Amino acid sequence: MLKLWKVVRPARQLELHRLILLLIAFSLGSMGFLAYYVSTSPKAKEPLPLPLGDCSSGAAGGPGPVRPPVPPRPPRPPETARTEPVVLVFVESAYSQLGQEIVAVLESSRFRYSTELAPGRGDMPTLTDHTRGRYVLVIYENLLKYVNLDAWSRELLDRYCVEYGVGIIGFFRAHEHSLLSAQLKGFPLFLHSNLGLRDYQVNPTAPLLHLTRPSRLEPGPLPGDDWTIFQSNHSTYEPVLLASLRLAEPPVPGPVPRRARLPTVVQDLGLHDGIQRVLFGHGLSFWLHKLVFVDAVAYLTGKRLCLDLDRYILVDIDDIFVGKEGTRMKVADVEALLTTQNKLRTLVPNFTFNLGFSGKFYHTGTEEEDAGDDMLLKHRQEFWWFPHMWSHMQPHLFHNRSVLADQMRLNKQFALEHGIPTDLGYAVAPHHSGVYPIHTQLYEAWKSVWGIQVTSTEEYPHLRPARYRRGFIHNGIMVLPRQTCGLFTHTIFYNEYPGGSRELDRSIRGGELFLTVLLNPISIFMTHLSNYGNDRLGLYTFESLVRFLQCWTRLRLQTLPPVPLARKYFDLFPQERSPLWQNPCDDKRHKDIWSKEKTCDRLPKFLIVGPQKTGTTAIHFFLSLHPAVTSSFPSPSTFEEIQFFNGPNYHKGIDWYMDFFPVPSNASTDFLFEKSATYFDSEVVPRRGAALLPRAKIITVLTNPADRAYSWYQHQRAHGDPVALNYTFYQVISASSQAPPALRSLQNRCLVPGYYSTHLQRWLTYYPSGQLLIVDGQELRTNPAASMESIQKFLGITPFLNYTRTLRFDEDKGFWCQGLEGGKTRCLGKSKGRKYPDMDAESRLFLMDFFRNHNLELSQLLSRLGQPVPSWLREELQHSSSG
Ligand code: A3P
Repeated sequence: MLKLWKVVRPARQLELHRLILLLIAFSLGSMGFLAYYVSTSPKAKEPLPLPLGDCSSGAAGGPGPVRPPVPPRPPRPPETARTEPVVLVFVESAYSQLGQEIVAVLESSRFRYSTELAPGRGDMPTLTDHTRGRYVLVIYENLLKYVNLDAWSRELLDRYCVEYGVGIIGFFRAHEHSLLSAQLKGFPLFLHSNLGLRDYQVNPTAPLLHLTRPSRLEPGPLPGDDWTIFQSNHSTYEPVLLASLRLAEPPVPGPVPRRARLPTVVQDLGLHDGIQRVLFGHGLSFWLHKLVFVDAVAYLTGKRLCLDLDRYILVDIDDIFVGKEGTRMKVADVEALLTTQNKLRTLVPNFTFNLGFSGKFYHTGTEEEDAGDDMLLKHRQEFWWFPHMWSHMQPHLFHNRSVLADQMRLNKQFALEHGIPTDLGYAVAPHHSGVYPIHTQLYEAWKSVWGIQVTSTEEYPHLRPARYRRGFIHNGIMVLPRQTCGLFTHTIFYNEYPGGSRELDRSIRGGELFLTVLLNPISIFMTHLSNYGNDRLGLYTFESLVRFLQCWTRLRLQTLPPVPLARKYFDLFPQERSPLWQNPCDDKRHKDIWSKEKTCDRLPKFLIVGPQKTGTTAIHFFLSLHPAVTSSFPSPSTFEEIQFFNGPNYHKGIDWYMDFFPVPSNASTDFLFEKSATYFDSEVVPRRGAALLPRAKIITVLTNPADRAYSWYQHQRAHGDPVALNYTFYQVISASSQAPPALRSLQNRCLVPGYYSTHLQRWLTYYPSGQLLIVDGQELRTNPAASMESIQKFLGITPFLNYTRTLRFDEDKGFWCQGLEGGKTRCLGKSKGRKYPDMDAESRLFLMDFFRNHNLELSQLLSRLGQPVPSWLREELQHSSSG
């Protein structure tokens, strides 16, 4: 707790207490209280230049004006510049409201973070990684957890912050038992809590301002009466947000004029102890705190975590001609639409409403509304237009692509007849149907009929939370995330807005809608025809939003047509180009807009992931003998394996993948599976696999990585690979980094899959360990019945197949095979279980040394997982330690 005064009094108890504090404060001499007040502060100085311009990257964007720090901060080690910018957030609990609000802002801004519970004492997470700092910013949901850290942890954290130039953001949330006034332990800073405030203003000289535009004084009360203000006479503290006491509030201690403006957010410039901080005297529920918080993150991270000032907004009016009679636009509404569009163009360059039409419903309103339709068409050149479906039908209901295309042609015919421009390259599907989950027929028909290049949806990856919405590119069409602005077909009257009209105003004035634009560089909003008739809520909403944004932020609002907008989006977020497919049946909304002719049962229950040359084909073969297990159909192009998750096939989508599986006769007892041995060591597969098949079981087979490498080399020789034929095995594995690329490539294919623990760790990031089985490849080779028994147990397959009776050792082949009638056998083909000379001793020694650490890590991982250590690994470790 705060330390200066011992008496803890409930809030609002009262003047006498404050009077005593006042006396104590004065007796502290130079530590007396001084309020900040913008115009008359004794430490008022030349106004600092406002931080203008764009976000710069890296150190050049540095955090504002430089004053000599006390103590001087040593330069950052060069490694820091390469550190991934990650924010460390200390939260009170996994569910604390402020903690969740902090995380929500970071997530919406696409900033990486890591949360830790702040227990108050000890337990500081590791802050450095060798010589690199792990975090670029530290946030305390509860500032007191920081100031009251035990001496050791505090010293550790502060030293880290000074050495790596890392700042701290802290929130002080008063509660009813908070001291009314106290000094923050160890800082020349005083806090006065549980206050009611009014009339707020952003200090124009605060160095951290970036997105925030300093404002004139905004009259009116701040929400709640649990505000904390900060006071200090130390030049390290700079006020950021100021407010006055409400009239009913008793004065705060010190020579503070009654009407002084007091800081609810202060910036510590680091002059006290070399650490820069931003302290909030409340949580983030007050909208302006969110805005300042985003700036504080940018400032304290030297703009490494910083949002650009450009914001692109596109307002779609879906359902043109579709609205019900009595709710549609009339002539006067269209005139108002044009007037507002012109007004908005003065504030948002190029602003143009984007109208989505379904021609079938043209002239289906009242007489006045039909005249409204005609008025829209008369001014068609002043708007942008995009097609919906002709009859506003959901595309996923059209299984037949040509029927779908015919519907589109009707709408196109309508557009041509009425002179509607058709060259925007953008379309939206009614109810998002067919966009995600993908209905391939829609993408193809869009391209062939309309030449569509861009669409948008709210559904990828899911509708909620909205901050997770993302874009992707499929089949040449760029899919952008789409935002809702709270206006639906049925929200047509201001006074009947759900939850009251204040809800709409709150969303505009710092609430959800404001934050959407603040935190997303590109926003496509969905509105409806009915929002522009009736009370014209669409016009009210966007005009108010733009004005509010311009009043409080320095954002540069603008509008671009969909195709350049989409290009801009994927320039900003190139990592989103590639989609992450999910199971459509795991989200009810997705299931509802997915073709009824498709089923989620055609997905595998387990995967055999490799690595190559460990015996994966043998397992595949043996499992296929089981009556309850069904393998995928062989792929003609990739050596029978589908190789969906790791390569270009992934972009063909899940319909393509599911076509490799039969429809199971009984989805709960049948086990579909596929084996692609290239999955094991692929960077992308575990993440993609877990997104589509989160409950799938994963089987991997491990043999001695040295033998695996040699088997791969022999495999390449058998396939006539000139590199494998021209170089000995030893030359391949010991090639230097300057060796020819083809040799290096073969070397990698021999060695890299053998980094077993590294690859397994990646799988374990995405799948729980209980879903992963590690089969001993040595045992599989010598006693396959035992391996198959543990696989059946792991998968929970019934009936149990007794492989001791099913398999038979074939002396000629030298391997186990399927036992047939009359003592015959069916074995794997010539390419499995090849005959080739033993590995030379030099290579064996080289590889024993090469894989030593990887093998050691593997044995540690297995013991952590409680899994048995295979005999080959035990032997290898014994030999390598004695060698
Ligand atoms: P070699 O051909 O080098 O001996 P994969 O199917 O994962 O590519 O692995 C091929 C390896 O499986 C073979 O490598 C062989 O050692 C091993 N294997 C294990 N059991 C086998 C079996 N019953 N028949 C054939 N090969 C088997």
